[in-house]
Amino acid sequence: MTIEKTFLAVKPEAFSRGDAQGIVEMLSKLLPDAKCLAMKIYQPTEALAKEHYAALSDKPFFPELIKSFTAGKIVGMVWEAENVVARARDAMGATDPSKAADDTIRKVYGKHIGDNAIHGSDTEEGSAAREIQIHFPEANFAQIDPIATLEALFTKA
Ligand code: RTP
Ligand code: MG
Repeated sequence: MTIEKTFLAVKPEAFSRGDAQGIVEMLSKLLPDAKCLAMKIYQPTEALAKEHYAALSDKPFFPELIKSFTAGKIVGMVWEAENVVARARDAMGATDPSKAADDTIRKVYGKHIGDNAIHGSDTEEGSAAREIQIHFPEANFAQIDPIATLEALFTKA
């Protein structure tokens, strides 16, 4: 087992419903040993969204996906733990919330496949390193308390 980092984000629709705190609390509960290393609230630009989802640019749903990911603010985060890329994906649940297992974030907070509450990198070597670089080019990582940090960010957002 190796210590990995992953990029996780509360998606705009979930953020606008007021679900960010609940989602971050679920991450903390489902990944109790994981360290949150960075957190920001920001609205992705179209350029950022297209870079983030570049691997899906030939999919028919790509325009809708970009519209969704740029529709409002997200909570972008970097988390670190053993095998955290796959474990965070388990905590998130299936892409389609109607197929997600009980006690997963998408089961609780997702509405449908185009509104599934949370993003998570899907491989360490590929998407996690790439997405962390795209969203956190400043690479200013140190362990933070995710719930307290989110609360503090909300007072500024
Ligand atoms: P994400 O990247 O957002 O964490 O989601 P994922 O890995 O579970 O799924 P991925 O295949 O990477 O797709 C990215 C997002 O595109 C939307 N999608 N829509 N209409 C469709 O068939 C369809 N398929 C995917 C979802 O919102 C998915 O999260
Ligand atoms: Mg994906």
